Amino acid sequence: MLAIMSALTEEIEHLVAEMGPTAEIFSRGMRNYHKGVLWGTPVVLVFSRWGKVSAAATSACLISEFGATGIIFTGVAGAVDPRLKVGDVVIGNRLYQHDMDARPLFERHEIPLLKITAIPTDAVLRAQLEKAAADFLQHGVHTALTATARKRFNLTAPKSVTLDVASGDKFFANKAEVRELRSRLPVGCVEMEGAAVAQVCLEHSIRFGLIRTISDSADEAAPIDFLAFIKEVAAVYSHGIIKNFLKNRAK
Ligand code: ADE
Repeated sequence: MLAIMSALTEEIEHLVAEMGPTAEIFSRGMRNYHKGVLWGTPVVLVFSRWGKVSAAATSACLISEFGATGIIFTGVAGAVDPRLKVGDVVIGNRLYQHDMDARPLFERHEIPLLKITAIPTDAVLRAQLEKAAADFLQHGVHTALTATARKRFNLTAPKSVTLDVASGDKFFANKAEVRELRSRLPVGCVEMEGAAVAQVCLEHSIRFGLIRTISDSADEAAPIDFLAFIKEVAAVYSHGIIKNFLKNRAK
């Protein structure tokens, strides 16, 4: 069973609507798991809630209760690489926990007992998501978004790139903090869940893929951009990319 998880209720609701009335809902630990079929593939959809603990708990439940053999995480992220613009899509390459610091017992960012600092996404899922995102941005994005959203966020030629990602329990809204993060980790963007899901998937030998749309530049304007963006753009993007991804797999 493939699982699709997001830290945005808007994204999950958009996909749940696509499943239709045959979907079943299971409530566990303050989450609703929606089991059904999306574009020919049986999937379970769930809102992870926010942060690493929430994402890890949701991942563990997906694996132990729903038999997930792969997890795709969709959501938004703040840009760290200055070449990224709001509306670009990042496909996750390697995931770091930027707030992991067990010095002097382990190196900074090293995950205790796993002997690694970064966890790669699954190569097959990564390639499939890269194709799905590139196709969506080339062919689907202009018709999927409203003219108001395109204008408001200046979405003229959004691109998709594969980059390393940092996760941690912090919303970045300060340029100096972003510069400091970039000086210690070679990441393109920052978010709050991906690396936790990556760790649970690694520990259970489960495939993991990550799609993140850039919602803000992790600077002082981040909170304003973020709230408007998830309503007007993020749910449309994840719907379009997941649709391409699942349709290609069902072929
Ligand atoms: N997700 C989206 N924007 C973010 C930011 N600025 N910091 C952390 N997570 C985010």
